[in-house]
Amino acid sequence: MSQPREPIVSPIRADRQGAKRHYGVHPYFTRRPANVVRAYIKHYSLPGETVLDPFGGSGVTAIEAMLLNRCGIHNDINPLANFVAEQIADTTVEPSQIREALCQMEATVAGEVKSVSRLHEDEVERRLQRVPLPANIVLPRTSDVKTYYELFSPRQLLALALLKRGIDELGVHPARGQLLLAWSATLAKLNKTFLSAKGRLESRGGSSIFSIFRYKVARNPVELPAWTIFHDRAMNVVEAKRELLRMKHLWERTEGWRGSFLKHSLDVADLPKVIRRRVDYIFTDPPYGGHIAYLDLSVLWNHWLGFEVATSLKEKEMIVGGEVRHTEEYYIRRLKESMSVCLNMLKPNRWMSVVFQHWNLRYFQAILEQAAESGASLKAAVTHVGDTIWSMHKKKNKERVLAGEMILTFLNDGKGRLPKSISPSIHSAAQILDEALEEVTPDGRPFPGELLFNTAILKAWAHGSLNLLDLTREEFSQILVSKGWRYNKLKHHWFSAPMDVVPNLQLTF
Ligand SMILES: C[S@@+](CC[C@H](N)C(=O)[O-])C[C@H]1O[C@@H](n2cnc3c(N)ncnc32)[C@H](O)[C@@H]1O
Repeated sequence: MSQPREPIVSPIRADRQGAKRHYGVHPYFTRRPANVVRAYIKHYSLPGETVLDPFGGSGVTAIEAMLLNRCGIHNDINPLANFVAEQIADTTVEPSQIREALCQMEATVAGEVKSVSRLHEDEVERRLQRVPLPANIVLPRTSDVKTYYELFSPRQLLALALLKRGIDELGVHPARGQLLLAWSATLAKLNKTFLSAKGRLESRGGSSIFSIFRYKVARNPVELPAWTIFHDRAMNVVEAKRELLRMKHLWERTEGWRGSFLKHSLDVADLPKVIRRRVDYIFTDPPYGGHIAYLDLSVLWNHWLGFEVATSLKEKEMIVGGEVRHTEEYYIRRLKESMSVCLNMLKPNRWMSVVFQHWNLRYFQAILEQAAESGASLKAAVTHVGDTIWSMHKKKNKERVLAGEMILTFLNDGKGRLPKSISPSIHSAAQILDEALEEVTPDGRPFPGELLFNTAILKAWAHGSLNLLDLTREEFSQILVSKGWRYNKLKHHWFSAPMDVVPNLQLTF
Protein backbone atom coordinates (compact mmCIF):
# COMPACT_ATOMS: atom_id res chain seq x y z
CA MET A 1 0.00 0.00 0.00
CA SER A 2 1.28 3.46 -0.77
CA GLN A 3 0.69 6.69 1.09
CA PRO A 4 -2.90 7.92 1.46
CA ARG A 5 -3.70 10.68 -1.02
CA GLU A 6 -6.78 11.82 0.83
CA PRO A 7 -6.72 13.04 4.43
CA ILE A 8 -9.27 12.20 7.13
CA VAL A 9 -11.89 14.94 6.87
CA SER A 10 -14.67 13.80 9.22
CA PRO A 11 -14.66 13.70 13.02
CA ILE A 12 -14.35 10.34 14.75
CA ARG A 13 -16.52 9.77 17.78
CA ALA A 14 -14.35 9.43 20.87
CA ASP A 15 -14.55 6.21 22.85
CA ARG A 16 -12.67 7.27 25.97
CA GLN A 17 -13.39 4.22 28.06
CA GLY A 18 -12.82 1.69 25.28
CA ALA A 19 -9.13 1.12 25.97
CA LYS A 20 -8.35 -0.11 29.48
CA ARG A 21 -4.66 0.51 28.89
CA HIS A 22 -5.26 4.27 29.09
CA TYR A 23 -8.59 4.80 30.77
CA GLY A 24 -8.54 4.36 34.55
CA VAL A 25 -4.86 3.46 34.83
CA HIS A 26 -3.49 6.89 35.68
CA PRO A 27 -4.91 10.37 35.12
CA TYR A 28 -3.10 12.90 32.93
CA PHE A 29 -3.91 16.24 31.32
CA THR A 30 -5.97 16.36 28.10
CA ARG A 31 -5.48 12.69 27.30
CA ARG A 32 -6.50 11.94 23.72
CA PRO A 33 -9.03 9.17 23.06
CA ALA A 34 -7.14 6.08 21.88
CA ASN A 35 -9.66 5.16 19.17
CA VAL A 36 -9.23 8.54 17.44
CA VAL A 37 -5.43 8.38 17.66
CA ARG A 38 -5.48 4.80 16.30
CA ALA A 39 -7.63 5.80 13.34
CA TYR A 40 -5.16 8.55 12.44
CA ILE A 41 -2.10 6.31 12.84
CA LYS A 42 -3.72 3.58 10.71
CA HIS A 43 -4.66 6.01 8.00
CA TYR A 44 -1.38 7.88 7.73
CA SER A 45 1.21 5.15 8.32
CA LEU A 46 1.93 1.48 7.67
CA PRO A 47 3.01 -1.38 9.93
CA GLY A 48 6.74 -1.25 10.51
CA GLU A 49 6.87 2.52 10.02
CA THR A 50 7.86 5.10 12.61
CA VAL A 51 5.32 7.32 14.35
CA LEU A 52 6.45 10.20 16.57
CA ASP A 53 4.68 12.23 19.23
CA PRO A 54 7.06 14.98 20.43
CA PHE A 55 4.56 16.14 23.12
CA GLY A 56 3.51 12.63 24.06
CA GLY A 57 1.94 13.20 27.51
CA SER A 58 0.71 9.90 28.92
CA GLY A 59 1.89 8.10 25.78
CA VAL A 60 -1.32 7.39 23.88
CA THR A 61 0.21 8.00 20.44
CA ALA A 62 3.37 5.94 20.81
CA ILE A 63 1.59 3.13 22.68
CA GLU A 64 -1.12 2.89 20.03
CA ALA A 65 1.52 3.06 17.29
CA MET A 66 3.33 0.14 18.95
CA LEU A 67 0.07 -1.82 19.21
CA LEU A 68 -0.54 -1.18 15.52
CA ASN A 69 2.81 -2.85 14.85
CA ARG A 70 4.66 0.40 14.21
CA CYS A 71 7.66 1.91 15.95
CA GLY A 72 6.21 4.46 18.37
CA ILE A 73 8.54 7.24 19.52
CA HIS A 74 7.34 9.04 22.61
CA ASN A 75 8.77 12.26 23.98
CA ASP A 76 7.76 14.60 26.78
CA ILE A 77 9.53 17.07 29.02
CA ASN A 78 7.50 15.99 32.07
CA PRO A 79 8.96 13.03 34.03
CA LEU A 80 5.47 12.05 35.25
CA ALA A 81 4.21 11.77 31.67
CA ASN A 82 7.19 9.61 30.71
CA PHE A 83 6.84 7.39 33.77
CA VAL A 84 3.14 6.73 33.03
CA ALA A 85 3.77 6.15 29.32
CA GLU A 86 6.71 3.83 29.89
CA GLN A 87 4.93 1.70 32.48
CA ILE A 88 1.80 1.31 30.34
CA ALA A 89 3.94 0.46 27.30
CA ASP A 90 6.01 -2.18 29.11
CA THR A 91 5.48 -5.51 27.35
CA THR A 92 8.03 -7.42 29.42
CA VAL A 93 5.99 -7.83 32.57
CA GLU A 94 3.17 -10.39 32.85
CA PRO A 95 -0.17 -9.70 34.57
CA SER A 96 0.51 -12.71 36.81
CA GLN A 97 3.71 -11.08 38.06
CA ILE A 98 1.78 -7.93 39.01
CA ARG A 99 -0.79 -10.03 40.87
CA GLU A 100 1.91 -11.97 42.60
CA ALA A 101 3.61 -8.75 43.80
CA LEU A 102 0.24 -7.45 44.96
CA CYS A 103 -0.31 -10.65 46.97
CA GLN A 104 3.09 -10.15 48.54
CA MET A 105 2.07 -6.64 49.60
CA GLU A 106 -1.26 -7.99 50.84
CA ALA A 107 0.75 -10.18 53.22
CA THR A 108 3.24 -7.51 54.29
CA VAL A 109 1.65 -4.05 54.39
CA ALA A 110 -2.12 -4.34 53.74
CA GLY A 111 -2.98 -4.89 57.42
CA GLU A 112 -1.06 -1.84 58.62
CA VAL A 113 -2.45 0.33 55.82
CA LYS A 114 -6.01 -0.74 56.63
CA SER A 115 -5.50 0.02 60.33
CA VAL A 116 -4.56 3.66 59.66
CA SER A 117 -8.22 4.76 59.59
CA ARG A 118 -8.72 3.40 63.12
CA LEU A 119 -5.62 4.88 64.74
CA HIS A 120 -5.76 7.71 67.25
CA GLU A 121 -4.45 11.01 65.85
CA ASP A 122 -1.44 10.96 68.18
CA GLU A 123 -0.53 7.49 67.00
CA VAL A 124 -0.77 8.61 63.35
CA GLU A 125 1.64 11.46 64.14
CA ARG A 126 4.01 9.06 65.96
CA ARG A 127 4.05 6.62 63.04
CA LEU A 128 4.60 9.43 60.56
CA GLN A 129 7.96 10.00 62.27
CA ARG A 130 8.98 6.43 61.40
CA VAL A 131 8.12 6.22 57.69
CA PRO A 132 10.09 7.66 54.77
CA LEU A 133 8.44 10.88 53.56
CA PRO A 134 9.46 13.29 50.82
CA ALA A 135 10.69 16.75 51.88
CA ASN A 136 7.97 19.28 52.62
CA ILE A 137 8.52 21.59 49.66
CA VAL A 138 6.71 24.83 48.78
CA LEU A 139 3.89 24.47 46.23
CA PRO A 140 3.26 26.64 43.17
CA ARG A 141 1.94 30.07 44.10
CA THR A 142 -1.56 29.49 42.67
CA SER A 143 -2.18 26.64 45.15
CA ASP A 144 -4.71 26.90 47.97
CA VAL A 145 -2.11 25.67 50.44
CA LYS A 146 1.51 26.61 50.82
CA THR A 147 3.38 23.37 51.37
CA TYR A 148 3.36 19.80 50.06
CA TYR A 149 2.24 18.12 53.32
CA GLU A 150 -0.80 20.40 53.53
CA LEU A 151 -2.15 18.57 50.48
CA PHE A 152 -2.78 15.53 52.67
CA SER A 153 -4.49 14.64 55.90
CA PRO A 154 -2.04 12.92 58.30
CA ARG A 155 -3.84 9.60 57.64
CA GLN A 156 -3.50 9.95 53.87
CA LEU A 157 0.17 10.80 54.22
CA LEU A 158 0.79 7.79 56.47
CA ALA A 159 -1.15 5.34 54.28
CA LEU A 160 0.65 6.52 51.13
CA ALA A 161 4.02 6.28 52.85
CA LEU A 162 3.30 2.73 54.05
CA LEU A 163 2.21 1.64 50.57
CA LYS A 164 5.28 3.19 48.99
CA ARG A 165 7.53 1.51 51.54
CA GLY A 166 5.80 -1.80 50.79
CA ILE A 167 6.61 -1.39 47.09
CA ASP A 168 10.21 -0.42 47.83
CA GLU A 169 10.54 -3.56 49.94
CA LEU A 170 9.68 -5.67 46.88
CA GLY A 171 13.24 -4.96 45.75
CA VAL A 172 14.04 -5.73 42.13
CA HIS A 173 10.71 -7.42 41.41
CA PRO A 174 9.72 -7.29 37.67
CA ALA A 175 6.33 -5.79 38.59
CA ARG A 176 7.73 -3.03 40.79
CA GLY A 177 7.22 -0.33 38.16
CA GLN A 178 3.63 -1.46 37.60
CA LEU A 179 2.82 -1.22 41.30
CA LEU A 180 4.48 2.18 41.48
CA LEU A 181 2.14 3.20 38.67
CA ALA A 182 -0.81 1.96 40.75
CA TRP A 183 0.58 3.82 43.78
CA SER A 184 0.95 7.01 41.73
CA ALA A 185 -2.68 6.65 40.59
CA THR A 186 -3.63 6.18 44.27
CA LEU A 187 -1.79 9.40 45.09
CA ALA A 188 -4.17 11.16 42.67
CA LYS A 189 -7.09 10.11 44.90
CA LEU A 190 -5.60 10.25 48.38
CA ASN A 191 -5.05 13.96 48.73
CA LYS A 192 -7.15 17.01 49.53
CA THR A 193 -7.46 18.16 45.91
CA PHE A 194 -9.65 15.13 45.23
CA LEU A 195 -13.22 16.25 44.58
CA SER A 196 -15.93 13.57 44.83
CA ALA A 197 -18.39 13.66 41.94
CA LYS A 198 -21.86 14.80 43.08
CA GLY A 199 -24.45 12.04 43.44
CA ARG A 200 -21.95 9.22 42.93
CA LEU A 201 -19.82 7.02 45.15
CA GLU A 202 -17.39 9.02 47.28
CA SER A 203 -14.48 7.42 45.47
CA ARG A 204 -15.72 8.58 42.05
CA GLY A 205 -14.40 11.92 41.00
CA GLY A 206 -11.02 13.44 40.33
CA SER A 207 -8.38 15.83 41.46
CA SER A 208 -8.87 19.57 40.90
CA ILE A 209 -5.40 19.46 39.35
CA PHE A 210 -6.91 17.94 36.20
CA SER A 211 -10.13 19.95 36.07
CA ILE A 212 -9.28 23.40 37.43
CA PHE A 213 -5.58 23.15 36.66
CA ARG A 214 -4.39 24.29 40.07
CA TYR A 215 -4.08 22.87 43.59
CA LYS A 216 -7.57 23.68 44.81
CA VAL A 217 -8.30 21.99 48.12
CA ALA A 218 -11.77 20.46 48.58
CA ARG A 219 -14.05 22.20 51.09
CA ASN A 220 -14.79 18.86 52.73
CA PRO A 221 -11.97 16.51 51.76
CA VAL A 222 -12.87 12.80 51.76
CA GLU A 223 -10.75 10.08 53.34
CA LEU A 224 -10.95 7.14 50.96
CA PRO A 225 -9.89 3.65 52.14
CA ALA A 226 -6.25 3.55 51.10
CA TRP A 227 -5.73 -0.19 50.62
CA THR A 228 -8.96 -0.63 48.63
CA ILE A 229 -8.07 2.30 46.37
CA PHE A 230 -4.55 0.99 45.83
CA HIS A 231 -5.79 -2.55 45.22
CA ASP A 232 -8.34 -1.29 42.66
CA ARG A 233 -5.67 0.78 40.87
CA ALA A 234 -3.36 -2.24 40.79
CA MET A 235 -6.13 -4.39 39.31
CA ASN A 236 -6.71 -1.72 36.65
CA VAL A 237 -3.02 -1.98 35.81
CA VAL A 238 -3.37 -5.79 35.59
CA GLU A 239 -6.34 -5.44 33.21
CA ALA A 240 -4.46 -2.88 31.13
CA LYS A 241 -1.48 -5.21 30.83
CA ARG A 242 -3.70 -8.14 29.85
CA GLU A 243 -5.27 -6.07 27.10
CA LEU A 244 -1.91 -4.81 25.82
CA LEU A 245 -0.33 -8.26 25.74
CA ARG A 246 -3.41 -9.78 24.07
CA MET A 247 -2.96 -7.30 21.23
CA LYS A 248 0.74 -8.04 20.99
CA HIS A 249 0.13 -11.82 20.92
CA LEU A 250 -2.41 -11.40 18.16
CA TRP A 251 0.27 -9.83 15.96
CA GLU A 252 2.68 -12.62 16.92
CA ARG A 253 0.18 -15.23 15.75
CA THR A 254 -0.66 -13.42 12.50
CA GLU A 255 1.71 -11.05 10.73
CA GLY A 256 4.52 -11.15 13.30
CA TRP A 257 5.26 -8.59 15.98
CA ARG A 258 7.23 -5.54 14.88
CA GLY A 259 5.81 -3.08 17.39
CA SER A 260 8.15 -1.06 19.57
CA PHE A 261 8.05 1.84 22.00
CA LEU A 262 10.92 4.24 22.39
CA LYS A 263 10.97 7.00 25.00
CA HIS A 264 12.79 10.33 25.09
CA SER A 265 12.57 12.92 27.86
CA LEU A 266 13.70 16.00 26.01
CA ASP A 267 12.70 19.51 25.19
CA VAL A 268 11.16 19.19 21.74
CA ALA A 269 13.92 21.36 20.25
CA ASP A 270 16.53 18.76 21.24
CA LEU A 271 14.78 15.82 19.59
CA PRO A 272 16.65 16.05 16.25
CA LYS A 273 19.85 15.26 18.20
CA VAL A 274 18.52 11.78 19.01
CA ILE A 275 16.13 11.07 16.12
CA ARG A 276 18.57 10.64 13.29
CA ARG A 277 16.32 8.89 10.75
CA ARG A 278 13.33 10.90 9.61
CA VAL A 279 9.94 9.63 10.75
CA ASP A 280 6.92 8.49 8.71
CA TYR A 281 4.10 10.17 10.62
CA ILE A 282 3.70 12.67 13.46
CA PHE A 283 0.58 12.87 15.60
CA THR A 284 0.84 15.39 18.37
CA ASP A 285 -1.07 17.48 20.83
CA PRO A 286 1.11 20.43 21.80
CA PRO A 287 0.61 22.31 25.05
CA TYR A 288 -2.24 24.81 24.74
CA GLY A 289 -0.63 28.00 26.02
CA GLY A 290 -2.12 29.18 29.33
CA HIS A 291 -4.26 27.29 31.84
CA ILE A 292 -2.09 24.18 32.18
CA ALA A 293 1.37 24.45 33.73
CA TYR A 294 2.15 20.74 33.38
CA LEU A 295 5.38 20.63 35.42
CA ASP A 296 4.01 22.76 38.28
CA LEU A 297 0.85 20.70 38.41
CA SER A 298 2.73 17.41 38.32
CA VAL A 299 4.78 18.26 41.41
CA LEU A 300 2.41 16.13 43.51
CA TRP A 301 3.69 13.06 41.68
CA ASN A 302 7.17 14.02 40.46
CA HIS A 303 8.25 15.03 43.97
CA TRP A 304 7.24 11.85 45.80
CA LEU A 305 8.29 9.59 42.93
CA GLY A 306 11.72 11.19 43.20
CA PHE A 307 11.82 12.76 39.74
CA GLU A 308 13.79 15.95 39.86
CA VAL A 309 12.31 18.95 38.05
CA ALA A 310 14.96 21.64 37.99
CA THR A 311 14.13 25.27 37.22
CA SER A 312 16.17 24.85 34.03
CA LEU A 313 13.60 22.25 32.88
CA LYS A 314 10.69 24.56 33.67
CA GLU A 315 12.42 27.25 31.63
CA LYS A 316 12.09 25.00 28.59
CA GLU A 317 8.44 24.12 29.11
CA MET A 318 6.16 25.49 26.40
CA ILE A 319 3.48 27.24 28.41
CA VAL A 320 2.29 30.72 29.27
CA GLY A 321 2.74 31.59 32.97
CA GLY A 322 3.69 28.92 35.49
CA GLU A 323 6.25 29.41 38.27
CA VAL A 324 8.84 30.73 35.81
CA ARG A 325 6.24 33.13 34.36
CA HIS A 326 6.66 32.40 30.68
CA THR A 327 5.33 35.14 28.47
CA GLU A 328 2.95 34.73 25.56
CA GLU A 329 5.77 35.82 23.24
CA TYR A 330 7.94 32.99 24.53
CA TYR A 331 5.15 30.47 24.03
CA ILE A 332 4.42 31.59 20.48
CA ARG A 333 8.08 31.58 19.55
CA ARG A 334 8.49 28.06 20.94
CA LEU A 335 5.29 26.81 19.30
CA LYS A 336 6.58 28.01 15.95
CA GLU A 337 9.99 26.52 16.59
CA SER A 338 8.42 23.17 17.50
CA MET A 339 6.42 23.05 14.26
CA SER A 340 9.57 23.71 12.27
CA VAL A 341 11.54 21.08 14.24
CA CYS A 342 8.77 18.50 13.72
CA LEU A 343 8.48 19.08 9.98
CA ASN A 344 12.25 18.77 9.66
CA MET A 345 12.07 15.36 11.33
CA LEU A 346 9.29 14.20 8.99
CA LYS A 347 10.06 12.49 5.71
CA PRO A 348 9.07 14.39 2.56
CA ASN A 349 5.51 13.79 1.39
CA ARG A 350 4.46 12.36 4.73
CA TRP A 351 1.77 13.64 7.08
CA MET A 352 1.66 15.46 10.40
CA SER A 353 -1.50 15.85 12.50
CA VAL A 354 -1.63 18.52 15.18
CA VAL A 355 -4.42 18.64 17.76
CA PHE A 356 -5.16 22.15 18.88
CA GLN A 357 -7.87 24.27 20.45
CA HIS A 358 -7.56 27.71 21.86
CA TRP A 359 -9.42 30.95 21.62
CA ASN A 360 -6.21 32.89 21.03
CA LEU A 361 -5.75 33.24 17.29
CA ARG A 362 -2.08 34.06 17.58
CA TYR A 363 -1.48 30.45 18.59
CA PHE A 364 -3.26 29.12 15.54
CA GLN A 365 -1.43 31.64 13.43
CA ALA A 366 1.89 30.41 14.80
CA ILE A 367 1.09 26.83 13.77
CA LEU A 368 -0.35 27.68 10.36
CA GLU A 369 2.36 30.22 9.53
CA GLN A 370 5.27 28.03 10.54
CA ALA A 371 3.89 25.00 8.72
CA ALA A 372 3.51 27.09 5.56
CA GLU A 373 6.98 28.59 5.97
CA SER A 374 8.38 25.06 6.35
CA GLY A 375 6.64 24.13 3.09
CA ALA A 376 3.88 21.90 4.52
CA SER A 377 0.36 22.19 3.08
CA LEU A 378 -2.70 22.19 5.30
CA LYS A 379 -4.88 19.40 3.91
CA ALA A 380 -7.55 18.93 6.57
CA ALA A 381 -8.95 20.62 9.66
CA VAL A 382 -11.42 18.45 11.52
CA THR A 383 -13.35 19.74 14.52
CA HIS A 384 -14.15 17.24 17.25
CA VAL A 385 -16.87 18.47 19.57
CA GLY A 386 -19.50 17.02 21.83
CA ASP A 387 -17.52 14.11 23.11
CA THR A 388 -14.53 15.70 24.72
CA ILE A 389 -13.90 16.02 28.43
CA TRP A 390 -15.04 19.43 29.56
CA SER A 391 -12.97 21.44 31.98
CA MET A 392 -14.68 23.07 34.94
CA HIS A 393 -14.16 26.40 33.17
CA LYS A 394 -16.13 25.24 30.14
CA LYS A 395 -18.86 23.70 32.30
CA LYS A 396 -19.46 27.06 33.99
CA ASN A 397 -19.25 29.29 30.89
CA LYS A 398 -20.61 27.01 28.22
CA GLU A 399 -21.17 29.30 25.25
CA ARG A 400 -18.09 31.42 25.76
CA VAL A 401 -15.40 28.82 26.27
CA LEU A 402 -14.28 26.44 23.58
CA ALA A 403 -14.24 22.74 24.26
CA GLY A 404 -13.31 20.07 21.82
CA GLU A 405 -10.42 20.43 19.48
CA MET A 406 -9.38 20.71 15.91
CA ILE A 407 -7.08 18.19 14.26
CA LEU A 408 -5.03 20.01 11.64
CA THR A 409 -3.33 17.69 9.17
CA PHE A 410 -0.45 18.85 7.01
CA LEU A 411 1.34 17.15 4.12
CA ASN A 412 5.09 17.73 4.05
CA ASP A 413 5.03 18.25 0.28
CA GLY A 414 7.19 21.35 0.04
CA LYS A 415 4.26 23.22 -1.48
CA GLY A 416 2.95 25.01 1.62
CA ARG A 417 2.74 28.78 1.17
CA LEU A 418 1.55 31.71 3.26
CA PRO A 419 -1.73 33.23 1.98
CA LYS A 420 -0.74 35.47 -0.94
CA SER A 421 -2.50 38.69 -0.01
CA ILE A 422 -5.32 40.11 2.05
CA SER A 423 -8.69 39.69 0.29
CA PRO A 424 -9.89 43.28 -0.35
CA SER A 425 -13.58 42.38 0.04
CA ILE A 426 -13.25 41.13 3.64
CA HIS A 427 -13.47 43.89 6.24
CA SER A 428 -15.03 42.44 9.36
CA ALA A 429 -15.34 39.43 11.61
CA ALA A 430 -19.07 39.36 10.91
CA GLN A 431 -18.35 38.81 7.20
CA ILE A 432 -16.01 35.93 7.97
CA LEU A 433 -18.54 34.40 10.35
CA ASP A 434 -21.17 34.68 7.57
CA GLU A 435 -18.93 32.69 5.23
CA ALA A 436 -18.28 30.14 7.94
CA LEU A 437 -22.00 29.89 8.77
CA GLU A 438 -22.70 29.21 5.11
CA GLU A 439 -20.35 26.24 5.24
CA VAL A 440 -21.24 24.94 8.70
CA THR A 441 -24.99 25.26 8.49
CA PRO A 442 -26.20 25.93 4.93
CA ASP A 443 -29.71 24.83 5.94
CA GLY A 444 -29.82 26.69 9.28
CA ARG A 445 -29.41 23.61 11.46
CA PRO A 446 -28.04 23.97 15.02
CA PHE A 447 -24.26 23.85 15.32
CA PRO A 448 -21.62 23.87 18.06
CA GLY A 449 -19.81 27.19 18.53
CA GLU A 450 -16.44 25.45 18.28
CA LEU A 451 -17.19 24.18 14.78
CA LEU A 452 -18.11 27.66 13.59
CA PHE A 453 -15.08 29.26 15.18
CA ASN A 454 -12.69 26.68 13.74
CA THR A 455 -14.20 27.04 10.29
CA ALA A 456 -13.98 30.82 10.58
CA ILE A 457 -10.29 30.60 11.51
CA LEU A 458 -9.52 28.72 8.31
CA LYS A 459 -11.60 31.13 6.21
CA ALA A 460 -9.86 34.10 7.78
CA TRP A 461 -6.47 32.45 7.25
CA ALA A 462 -7.22 31.86 3.56
CA HIS A 463 -8.24 35.52 3.21
CA GLY A 464 -5.04 36.64 4.91
CA SER A 465 -7.27 38.30 7.54
CA LEU A 466 -6.81 36.21 10.65
CA ASN A 467 -6.45 39.39 12.73
CA LEU A 468 -10.07 40.32 11.99
CA LEU A 469 -11.21 37.34 14.02
CA ASP A 470 -9.44 38.58 17.10
CA LEU A 471 -12.68 38.66 19.09
CA THR A 472 -13.41 38.27 22.75
CA ARG A 473 -15.71 35.36 23.53
CA GLU A 474 -18.45 37.90 24.34
CA GLU A 475 -18.02 39.60 20.95
CA PHE A 476 -18.26 36.24 19.20
CA SER A 477 -21.49 35.46 21.09
CA GLN A 478 -22.87 38.94 20.40
CA ILE A 479 -22.31 38.66 16.64
CA LEU A 480 -24.15 35.35 16.60
CA VAL A 481 -27.03 36.78 18.63
CA SER A 482 -27.24 39.78 16.31
CA LYS A 483 -27.58 37.35 13.40
CA GLY A 484 -30.55 35.70 15.07
CA TRP A 485 -28.79 32.72 16.66
CA ARG A 486 -29.40 31.65 20.25
CA TYR A 487 -27.44 29.33 22.51
CA ASN A 488 -29.06 26.21 23.95
CA LYS A 489 -27.31 25.52 27.23
CA LEU A 490 -28.65 22.02 27.55
CA LYS A 491 -27.56 20.87 24.13
CA HIS A 492 -24.50 23.13 23.97
CA HIS A 493 -25.27 24.39 20.52
CA TRP A 494 -26.44 27.50 18.67
CA PHE A 495 -29.82 27.40 16.94
CA SER A 496 -31.98 29.75 14.95
CA ALA A 497 -35.43 28.48 15.98
CA PRO A 498 -37.77 30.77 17.93
CA MET A 499 -37.48 30.22 21.68
CA ASP A 500 -40.90 28.69 22.21
CA VAL A 501 -40.28 25.70 19.93
CA VAL A 502 -37.35 24.46 21.98
CA PRO A 503 -38.37 22.92 25.31
CA ASN A 504 -36.30 23.30 28.50
CA LEU A 505 -34.38 26.13 27.01
CA GLN A 506 -32.22 28.44 29.06
CA LEU A 507 -30.78 31.50 27.44
CA THR A 508 -27.91 33.57 28.68
CA PHE A 509 -28.98 36.65 26.80
C1 LIG B 1 -1.53 18.59 25.66
S1 LIG B 1 -0.32 17.64 26.50
C2 LIG B 1 -0.26 16.15 25.63
C3 LIG B 1 -1.22 15.12 26.18
C4 LIG B 1 -1.24 13.84 25.39
N1 LIG B 1 -1.83 14.05 24.10
C5 LIG B 1 -1.96 12.67 26.08
O1 LIG B 1 -2.86 12.07 25.45
O2 LIG B 1 -1.62 12.36 27.22
C6 LIG B 1 1.15 18.48 26.05
C7 LIG B 1 2.43 17.88 26.62
O3 LIG B 1 3.54 18.68 26.18
C8 LIG B 1 4.55 18.57 27.17
N2 LIG B 1 5.54 19.67 26.96
C9 LIG B 1 5.46 20.97 27.33
N3 LIG B 1 6.55 21.64 26.93
C10 LIG B 1 7.34 20.74 26.29
C11 LIG B 1 8.60 20.84 25.63
N4 LIG B 1 9.28 21.99 25.57
N5 LIG B 1 9.11 19.71 25.05
C12 LIG B 1 8.44 18.52 25.13
N6 LIG B 1 7.25 18.39 25.75
C13 LIG B 1 6.70 19.48 26.31
C14 LIG B 1 3.78 18.64 28.47
O4 LIG B 1 4.52 18.08 29.53
C15 LIG B 1 2.50 17.86 28.14
O5 LIG B 1 2.58 16.54 28.59
